[in-house]
Order: sequence, then C-alpha cells, then structure tokens
Amino acid sequence: MAAPLRLGLAGLGTVGIGVVQIVQKHAALIAARSGREVVISAVSARDRSKNRDADLSGFAWETDPVALARREDVDVFIEVMGGHEGAAKDATEAAIAAGKDVVTANKALLAHHGQELALAAEAKGRVIRFEAAVAGGIPVIKALTEGLAANSITRVMGVMNGTCNYILTRMQDAGLPYDHVFEEARQLGYLEADPNLDVGGIDAGHKLALLASIAFGTQVSFGAVELEGIGKILIDDIRHAADMDYRIKLLGVARMTGRGLEQRMTPCLVPAQSPLGQLQGGTNMVVLDGDSVGQIVLRGPGAGMGPTASAVMGDVVDLARGFRVPTFGVPATTLAAPVAAAVASAAPWYLRMTLVDKPGALAKIATALGEAGISIDRMRQYGHADAYAPVLIVTHKATRDDVNDALARFGATGVLVGEPVALRIEEV
Ligand code: NAP
Ligand code: HSE
Repeated sequence: MAAPLRLGLAGLGTVGIGVVQIVQKHAALIAARSGREVVISAVSARDRSKNRDADLSGFAWETDPVALARREDVDVFIEVMGGHEGAAKDATEAAIAAGKDVVTANKALLAHHGQELALAAEAKGRVIRFEAAVAGGIPVIKALTEGLAANSITRVMGVMNGTCNYILTRMQDAGLPYDHVFEEARQLGYLEADPNLDVGGIDAGHKLALLASIAFGTQVSFGAVELEGIGKILIDDIRHAADMDYRIKLLGVARMTGRGLEQRMTPCLVPAQSPLGQLQGGTNMVVLDGDSVGQIVLRGPGAGMGPTASAVMGDVVDLARGFRVPTFGVPATTLAAPVAAAVASAAPWYLRMTLVDKPGALAKIATALGEAGISIDRMRQYGHADAYAPVLIVTHKATRDDVNDALARFGATGVLVGEPVALRIEEV
C-alpha cells in the first residue's frame, strides 16, 4: 500500500469535528477505497481548551493555522475555519506556497479570491478542491467537472441556502410572518454569525458564482451576481404565490447568454409542483441543464456536520487516489474573464404594492407600467381596508430594467404607500 495521505485540519468547529469523526469512524473503508491510509497529522483552532466532541489526542496541535499549513507531515491542508480574509486566506496561501493540495468548505474565500488562489495552486502543480463549499453534501462540483464533463452546460439553477429555504417554507406551512420565523431560525442555530450572509442572499450568491465558473469556464465573478435577499417577503406574498400555484424561493440562476454571463440570486416565484417548488426546509437543490444530458436535479442536505464533512472527505479520497481535477475544472490560466450580461433575460413579474384608496390611483399605476413598456397579465385588489388598497399585479414578460423603470415611475405617482415588491416568476 502507498504511504498514508497526511491531513492538516484547520478548524475544529461543526465541519472540522465532522471530518475528524469520519476519518476515525471510516479509516478502514477510506483506506480500502483510496488504496492508502488517510490520517490526520495535526489540527488547529483558536481555543485549545474548548471541549470538542472528538478524540484529538493523537494529533499535533498548532495554534497558528499558517504554521499548520507549512508542516512537513501535512500533504493536504483542510481549511474549515471560514471567512474570506485573515486566517483562512493566509493559511490557504501558505499551504499552496508550501506545495500542498487544499480542500476547503469556504465558499466566501473562493468567491472573493478563487482565481488568484487557483492560479497560485496551479503554478505549484497543486489543486484546491471545494465540494463542501457548494450545497453541502450534494456532489454538485463532481457532477459538473466529471459526470457532465462532455456537456455544454446551458443553465445552472438552484436553492443553495438552507436557512432561507427553511424560513420561506416555514412561513408557508405555519402561516407565520418573516420576523417570527427568522427568530426561530436564529434559536435553532441555522443562521450564520452575520445573518445577512444567509437572508441577504450573499452566501448563496457565493455558491452560485463558484458553480458558474465551472459551468461556463469563466473566472469566478461574485461581484457580478445580482443579489437580493428575502427580508422583504411578507406572509401575504407567500399566500398570493400559493393562490396562483407558485412557491417563493431564494433562487440562483446562472446562464451564458449571447449578451454575456447572467448570474442572479434573488427571491423568485417557481411553479408549486416543480421539484424546486416542492423543496422543503433546509434542503438544497441544484438543477443542471446540459446540451446532451438534458436536465438533472440534485437534491440533498446543504449544511450540517455530517453532510459537509462527507463532501470534504470525498475530495480527500480523490486526492488519496491520485485523482486531481483543476480547481475550476480547467486550468485557471484558461479561464476567461466573464462579460456580465448588462440586461437579464425577460420574465413575467409579480408586483405587490399598497395604494392610497382614491379615484384614479390604480389607473396611475397602470399608466406607469404602460410607459415602462410592461403589459399587465393579471391584476387584483385584495384585503381592502380603511384608506389603503393592497394591489397585486402579474405582468407579461419584462426585463429587470423595465421593472425598475416602472418602480421609479410608481414612486412619482403619489399614490404609493411604502415600498412595492417585485419578484421574478421563473420558468424552471
Ligand atoms: P465553526 O463551527 O464556526 O468553526 C470554525 C472553526 O475554525 C472553529 O474551530 C474555530 O476555532 C476555528 N477558527 C476560526 N478562526 C480561527 C483562527 N484564526 N485560527 C485557528 N482556528 C480558527 O464553522 P463551521 O460551521 O465548521 O464552518 C467552517 C467552514 O465551512 C466555513 O467556511 C463555512 O462557511 C463552511 N461550511 C459550513 C457548513 C456548515 O453546515 N456548518 C456547510 C458548508 C460550508 P474555535 O473552535 O477554537 O473557536
Ligand atoms: N448558512 C448556510 C445555509 C450554511 O443555510 O445553507 C451552508 O453553507
């Protein structure tokens, strides 16, 4: 049998301890499948005295993850600390400079620095693997780089933040408002330390940008992802969507168009009976369209100790077997800088607003839509009380720019109360 593959594990939180547990529980199975033993040489975390749910006694301890990354008895550096600057970035750079392969669950790090890190790894003949960074336990990176490698990918779409899907489906099922369910999610420990990473769509946007890079052979371009969070979604929106046989999802869509790369992570309406519409709780789903395969749907746990560590260890086993795919599927030097599509493709839109209840108010809104070049498909005034009239409009296909134009015109009508909400209705 070949010499053991030696791991340096930086981070002993949810994911790191999950990795320790798998290495210990499945040592024989991993050795049989890899053709060599996989062992942990050394670990690092901030607080050595913290009680952790694993036996760490056989591993060397490094206070500084950079020192861990440089150790001679480490072949593969596993970064599961998190954060896109500081220790995670410094230690990953140090590992690459010292000629180690890297496995990470850190989508933020790669969304911000993926291209420079991939180039540095390549220059050293090394790779960065990051299956765990996108959709947790779902092997979507493998699907794109291996199983679908002979396809031209036409679209990547999915629900990639379990916390948002939990919040939206819980609002739907229990009829509870956003603030209440947000608080529940906090108490259940679902929210990131900075909740805006989840509910602001940033975490899911990071993941989409990584998938788009692999799917379309472009440099990671997180800055070009159109981002919108779920904080404005009212229980009324959930109900209206359900009345029309739709569900609201924080949906990522990336596609290469004749106008450039389109990437968005925004709340959308999707058909209730579609696989995405049926997705409940913290589960993730990624839908991939390829020119030969057609459409495939991958569904599974997007987070948590076991699922995320499973993905980390899948990458480790590949490296132990000597199987090395370039970080983003092709050499980083060949990745093109993407041109962002200036205008996203057109779609029908759901518009919800509150108007002052006086003669001509609705007519002004209809006129504003007409002036923005938007045609109305359906319109409804509902729950009408006192001086206010809540109004719901579904449009025919329009671009985001047209909708923004209409929203600006609404503001000038003087009949609008509060902020309107505009959600894309996505064909899935
Ligand atoms: P976590 O529970 O907060 O654990 C982070 C670990 O990193 C802790 O052990 C912490 O040490 C250590 N750490 C932080 N800064 C450090 C530093 N400067 N030096 C040394 N150690 C440091 O985080 P996690 O949930 O395991 O997530 C880790 C990574 O996986 C993140 O990038 C996250 O986005 C990603 N991820 C997580 C999940 C999930 O379900 N949790 C899913 C997919 C991806 P102490 O324990 O001593 O504080
Ligand atoms: N906060 C993320 C989620 C964790 O809710 O999906 C996994 O990346």
